Amino acid sequence: TTASDIAFKITRKTDGTPAAERESLIANPGFGRAFTDHMAVVTYTEGKGWHSAEILPRQPLMLDPAASVLHYAQEIFEGMKAYRAPNGGVQLFRPEANARRFQKSAERMAMAQLPEDLFLEAVTQLVKIDRDWVPAPEVGTLYIRPFMIATEAALGVKPASEFKFIVIACAAGEYFSKDAGPVSVWVETETVRASRGGTGTAKCGGNYAASLTAQMEGKHHGCQQVLFLDAEERRWLEEMGGMNVMMVFEDGTLLTPPLAGGTILHGITRDSLLTLARDAGLTVKEERYALDQLFADAKSGKLKEVFACGTAAVVSPIGTFKSKTDHCTINNNKVGEVTAKLRQSLCDIQFGRAADPHNWICSV
Ligand code: PLP
Ligand code: COI
Repeated sequence: TTASDIAFKITRKTDGTPAAERESLIANPGFGRAFTDHMAVVTYTEGKGWHSAEILPRQPLMLDPAASVLHYAQEIFEGMKAYRAPNGGVQLFRPEANARRFQKSAERMAMAQLPEDLFLEAVTQLVKIDRDWVPAPEVGTLYIRPFMIATEAALGVKPASEFKFIVIACAAGEYFSKDAGPVSVWVETETVRASRGGTGTAKCGGNYAASLTAQMEGKHHGCQQVLFLDAEERRWLEEMGGMNVMMVFEDGTLLTPPLAGGTILHGITRDSLLTLARDAGLTVKEERYALDQLFADAKSGKLKEVFACGTAAVVSPIGTFKSKTDHCTINNNKVGEVTAKLRQSLCDIQFGRAADPHNWICSV
């Protein structure tokens, strides 16, 4: 099936959110709560392929209580954003990279393959109908959440034969409140996020469910986010609960853990920042980095800046790390220069304020 076979049937919400209410919601949206009026839904049935593509008023789903997603967690998702450009236009950032990662996640979770153009069409149609929900650039973005669930009613453990691909969206401000300053990070040494051969590189809901006890433990220790270590040695930095991690050293090197181990999510922000850092003449390394080294380098002053990066987090400076046995402060808990510059270069492209030399922007 290709998207060109599938036309979206559009049912517009008749009693959409009144303009004044929408404006007030998107002026101070927080993250993940101010949902738009519509959703995209496409159905997959084995033997028939993808069909019944619709844009509908956002509404609760009807699911059989035996739907596989509810029992065996056959679910994957994506996270991407639409940005308001200076000319008032709306644009997406590397949406085809999300479409491809979605296909990789589907493959890992034995789910139906969604053609890239159908993914892009669903996202584009939803952004078009809800484009008034894209906040002003000073406030934030429209966060887009495409996902796929197994809907077949069957308790046998097997790949489902029926799926729904759904796209919802919400107005979104900062993931971490800026008032709180740089992010505080709990280093998790008990549980792991991913192991070799596991599902770490797939964007599946189960990975996030499994990260929540560590997130709670972190909160208990006064931290906002969790950093996970490798499963085998519990020594090497991997990534955070919902973002990749990068380090900046005193010699100007930018370092991030490598993807080769197969346990880290292939972040699109990560990839984009590595490109922008190389463009800016920084030395970029994708190499393993040990936790004991991080504490030592932070204390000796060799480690200058650390930040988290991802669609939701954008580029968020990290100010402190805490583990069961150690703790350290990074850059006096202030935003670092390289972190700020990289964030600026990325956002300037995403919001259409700067040239787009890598062809990352896609107008809606
Ligand atoms: N790592 C995890 C576990 C994530 O959930 C995310 C967010 O999507 C990322 C990294 C960053 O990926 P991206 O930059 O593509 O949003
Ligand atoms: C994203 O950045 O899109 C994610 O999926 C991460 C989540 C913490 C919101």
